[in-house]
Amino acid sequence: MAGQHFLVTGGAGFVGSNLVDTLLKSGHRVTVLDDLSVGKMRNIAHHLANPSFRFIKGSVLDVPLVERLMSGVDAVYHLAAVVGVKYVVDDPLRGMLVNVNGTENILKAALKYQRKVLVTSSSEVFGRPVNVPLSENDATVLGPTSVPRWSYAVSKLLDEHLAFAYNKQQQLPTVVVRYFNAYGPRLDPLGYGSVIAKFITQALSGKPLTVHGDGSQTRSFTFVGDTVRGTMAAMDTPEAEGLAFNIGNRRECTINQLAGWVRDAFDGAVEIEHIPYEQAYGKNFEDTKRRCPDISRAREVLGFEAQVPLEDGLRRTILWFKEHRDELIPA
Ligand SMILES: NC(=O)c1ccc[n+]([C@@H]2O[C@H](COP(=O)([O-])OP(=O)(O)OC[C@H]3O[C@@H](n4cnc5c(N)ncnc54)[C@H](O)[C@@H]3O)[C@@H](O)[C@H]2O)c1
Repeated sequence: MAGQHFLVTGGAGFVGSNLVDTLLKSGHRVTVLDDLSVGKMRNIAHHLANPSFRFIKGSVLDVPLVERLMSGVDAVYHLAAVVGVKYVVDDPLRGMLVNVNGTENILKAALKYQRKVLVTSSSEVFGRPVNVPLSENDATVLGPTSVPRWSYAVSKLLDEHLAFAYNKQQQLPTVVVRYFNAYGPRLDPLGYGSVIAKFITQALSGKPLTVHGDGSQTRSFTFVGDTVRGTMAAMDTPEAEGLAFNIGNRRECTINQLAGWVRDAFDGAVEIEHIPYEQAYGKNFEDTKRRCPDISRAREVLGFEAQVPLEDGLRRTILWFKEHRDELIPA
């Protein structure tokens, strides 16, 4: 449906700004709310002169602002969050407050004006996977509360429960998407949230690619164009309301393989180094060995399947990093 007005929270961030590009291209109007704690003006600057686009610098924790913006839009893509294990391990309190209170604020305001909400969750909610591939109804197995890493998963699980409770008890149209390692242009160059960004940045700086642990752990990487397509399909499909969807690529690769491909893309001119988890994240860190999505539900209900092969997406991502090298990597 073209011609809708969407609020995109976190729209100056990595996935959010790619979503904004596609929404505007599809004929929609977009208001972005982002506090720029991580998001960048450069991700959205090319839209500032577009009358269908508006940027508001502010926080999802600012209730009057959220209510005011909500009243003027048709629906909300809620992506604003403290994202990724590293940021959350650094400041678990801020992570939980932004992720949980921010989502509650969005849902409350949406209820007041009867607006549909899409909440973004994470494959992290599966914790220590029991079955792989991971299906939306699989059990969540998390580590102890003494390990801050798990607070990110807990905050996202609470977001999902809130979205479903508003849906079931208040009849608010809500839908949840669980992303599996999105990558592509505009990845955070600090590499906090993404091993792909980290490897490319290291390669561009002539540093060794640092693999945590023995590198045999696997992940499924999803090109951001696919992530955006799945997200918009979830918003546009009425049958999706009240459900969570895995939005990811089914193909798995080991972190060693990934490092090898990045090294090849730089003509083998970089070293690969293995470092213990403890050195990267401090004591008590726990990683998960495999994390691959079962996308049957997304395929059946949303008609979604990831299309961009990793080799192709990686090439496009490396090209983008090379083109933006001067902005991304301090001399
Ligand atoms: N990228 C992934 O692979 C991935 C995986 C799983 C889940 N997710 C989820 O997808 C969403 C987007 O992630 P991303 O990768 O684009 O991360 P990102 O950090 O690039 O984007 C998050 C954005 O939220 C903004 N933000 C943070 N706190 C805010 C606040 N209080 N008010 C307003 N804006 C605020 C940040 O400035 C940033 O622009 C997040 O909810 C994240 O948890 C992403």
